[in-house]
Amino acid sequence: MEGGGLPISRVRRELLYLVEKNATVVVVGHTGCGKTTQIPQYLHRSGWTAEGSKVLCTQPRELVVVSVAHRVAEEMGAVVGGEVGYRASSFEARTDEGGSTSSIEFSTDEALVSLMQRDPLLSPYTVVMVDEAHERSLATDVVLGLLKKVQRRRPDLRVIISSATIDAEALATFFGGAAIVSVEGTLHDVDILYAKVPASSYISEAVDTVVKIHKNERPGDVLVFFPGEEDVSQALELIEEQNDFERQRGGADDLVPLALHEGMPTSKQLQALRPAPRNHRKVVLSTSVAETSLTIDGIAYVVDCCFQRERYYDPITSLESVVTCPESKASAVQRAGRAGRVRPGKCFRLCTREAYESGLLPESSVPEMQRSELSHVVLQLKALGVDNIMSFDWIAPPSAEAMVRALELLHALGALDQESRLTSPLGAHMAELPVHPTVAKPLLVSGELGCVEELLIVAAVMTVKSSVWQLGRGRKEMERQKMKFAVAEGDHVTYLNVYKGFLEAKRSPGWCDRHCVNYNAMMKVLGVKSQLWSALEGLGIKHSSSDKETLPVRKALAHGLFANSAVLSSTSTDGKGRATYTTVRGKVVTKVHESSVLHRNQPKCVLYTRAIQTGPATHEMFEVLAVEQDWLTELAPHFYTSPGVG
Ligand code: CDP
Ligand code: MG
Repeated sequence: MEGGGLPISRVRRELLYLVEKNATVVVVGHTGCGKTTQIPQYLHRSGWTAEGSKVLCTQPRELVVVSVAHRVAEEMGAVVGGEVGYRASSFEARTDEGGSTSSIEFSTDEALVSLMQRDPLLSPYTVVMVDEAHERSLATDVVLGLLKKVQRRRPDLRVIISSATIDAEALATFFGGAAIVSVEGTLHDVDILYAKVPASSYISEAVDTVVKIHKNERPGDVLVFFPGEEDVSQALELIEEQNDFERQRGGADDLVPLALHEGMPTSKQLQALRPAPRNHRKVVLSTSVAETSLTIDGIAYVVDCCFQRERYYDPITSLESVVTCPESKASAVQRAGRAGRVRPGKCFRLCTREAYESGLLPESSVPEMQRSELSHVVLQLKALGVDNIMSFDWIAPPSAEAMVRALELLHALGALDQESRLTSPLGAHMAELPVHPTVAKPLLVSGELGCVEELLIVAAVMTVKSSVWQLGRGRKEMERQKMKFAVAEGDHVTYLNVYKGFLEAKRSPGWCDRHCVNYNAMMKVLGVKSQLWSALEGLGIKHSSSDKETLPVRKALAHGLFANSAVLSSTSTDGKGRATYTTVRGKVVTKVHESSVLHRNQPKCVLYTRAIQTGPATHEMFEVLAVEQDWLTELAPHFYTSPGVG
């Protein structure tokens, strides 16, 4: 049996005893000590999965769900889908409903919330383990509140909360004084080295540091932390260039750079976790995904850019900003720890010691619940029978403004009635679709408008996180290719052409490469589209297509996106050929982002999927649709005529 020598094995008896005696147990232990892979197996072997009952372990990240299910199946000599199963997304949860025979299941927190809509008391489960609770993702917080509620009706349900950081007290207090187990198990010493001067560009500084490590340090793999996916791609290119240069000079090309982030296909992600060929040094270029949730063996060096990227939603303007900000100290400690799992290591922080010690870095990050748009969460809670959202047992309550905004939008979408109750059937159906309410509504009206096929495609693209476009041979080429598909109605309608081209080319990866289309994203779109279709079919919606007619498609989308509207306010253009818009609500000055096919067109009125603050006084709209302004008052009369709103 594997896993015998892991630190977690030392607390196995204590843990099982506490789970027997307590409704809730918090487990704290450093990354790699065996929490995720071993605890479900301990529970399985000590009878918690007897007679068809199940143990569920949730994760904030889809990618971890898949990799960990494979690992555990391998350790148990089982197959994924048999004894060990997983629900990577809310979509997959839908398909294996009732048919699953797994004793141990891994799922995203998000998928667990969907599951609870169908089985609120989680009847087949004896234990739910909420893993990576310290990450405090939106869905993790929802799950924690819901599980506490379920426990009142099902005192037999056991909850295990696992965390890599020692903020366990707060979690334990939330569950009314849960038992705490600490996995002792020391990490090796990690030498922390700071930059002498602040880096002017963290990407090139990180790459230089990797090259220096490779030249001067003993063997051992390197893990580099970047704030975002784009940073990872840029760094990958830089290191590959460096390798080419070495090769041309006849030098050794024994540095193996590998990217690791959530936007890439699973097979590639798993590759980054495998050992490098003998006598090669692996460099994993990662986002914060490798901070605590994945263990990568063989890491002896960590390079930390000391930044993280976060989304903030402003309920006053209803706009979002994506900020690259100094990482929290809690993250810095976790990142450094990745270098000392198997032997003493080194961590190169790209900030100065003064910056680190002067309090520039916050102690911990703001939980996602307190910086997100909440209509999806509120709708899900309503569907779960939480009538008074304000008094829900939040582990970190969101702001009243954010709540009010969410309720207001749900009213305008018709999902809630005057008393803020879920409407039937509209609200109930919207809650059943595992997509944002602004996407769910268009899908539901597409039946009447005769454009189900088109909406399935657009909704799938909007739901898949990665962009359908791919840089490939430079930005210019991508722009050129994009224009081949572009239509004056905007990005959403343009996706229909991309999808059509993709199918006509028989889903060829080569075609995607030539057209700067992201093959992996398109494959995901196919999957999500068919899942969405089974969901709609289940609601009794008949298939239809509007063919070349795009008006119904735009109308359907406007049924969901009406709140995100802007009108042309000045036709004079900036250096990029873009005119100025003003949002209808909030009167914020904005522009169409360059990534949109409409950034040089000047439609009078547009709807956007997202508007993001991209500079101190710049807001830009992403994914833009051209519409008629009178649709706004037609589709959402109350929303656009209430006092004080222009
Ligand atoms: O959850 P936690 O961070 O405590 O550890 P884990 O994910 O259960 O990993 C325990 C050990 O299993 C790690 O130290 C890795 O050596 C190993 N592991 C692995 O080799 N491959 C995986 N996909 C997952 C874990
Ligand atoms: Mg883990």
